[in-house]
Amino acid sequence: LQLHGALSRVEEFGIISHRGAAALAPENTLAAMRIAFDQGVDFVEADLHLTADGVPVLMHDPTVDRTTTGTGPVANLTLAQIQGLDAGSWFDGAFAGERVPTLEAFLDELAPTNSRALIELKGSWNDEQVAAAVALLDARYLMDRVAFESFEIDNLERLAVLAPNYARVMLTREWNRPTLELAAALNISAVGARVSVFEADFALVEDARVLGIGTMVYTLNTVKQWKQARSHGIDLVITDDPVSLEQWRHNQ
Ligand code: G3P
Ligand code: CA
Repeated sequence: LQLHGALSRVEEFGIISHRGAAALAPENTLAAMRIAFDQGVDFVEADLHLTADGVPVLMHDPTVDRTTTGTGPVANLTLAQIQGLDAGSWFDGAFAGERVPTLEAFLDELAPTNSRALIELKGSWNDEQVAAAVALLDARYLMDRVAFESFEIDNLERLAVLAPNYARVMLTREWNRPTLELAAALNISAVGARVSVFEADFALVEDARVLGIGTMVYTLNTVKQWKQARSHGIDLVITDDPVSLEQWRHNQ
């Protein structure tokens, strides 16, 4: 299987650390990312939302409520307002004072490491916003080390035009022939879904392979799940426990 760009150097059954080392530190913070970089797995995953003033920040939920001391949608808060929030104490007092990182701050941490990243664009991004994010990556020569993922077809189409050198993963809630045809038409490197989505038809994983499209499953944290995914030929796994998965993979 030939995966493109940053995905081309992935080991068989590649490991992606979900939201940084989210089991050990507050998800999508620099503290979580630094631990994930040190763990040395194949990829570190991060989620991006746009602030009210259009700045990409690392955040999973559409609101800041769960993972910060603030409330309200990310899209209604300016960067200055978001950076005034504490993004660590909800997880553990030891992380009090941790901030919501901008994409730029995350890339500054990533660039000097040997790590690779899978970055999810959440919500709708316009051309200017996609181009600005890609410029941050290009400036750090990260085209071979960063892949994008999104559920939003518009975002994937914009990336195809504005970031043709970057691998793209199409996230999907449906897994059937039309999904594969759409992925092929968009020149997607891999399709990503929950295992329950792939269960609709595991045979299609092989069909995807024939089309040169990889498969990525999330979020698998047990040996039983890893075995199942591997036996069906899934290429990439997002996990909250990358260290155990790496050990398990090593012993296969
Ligand atoms: O988005 C796909 C994968 O990253 C797992 O989902 O909800 O953690 O973003 P989520
Ligand atoms: Ca994600």
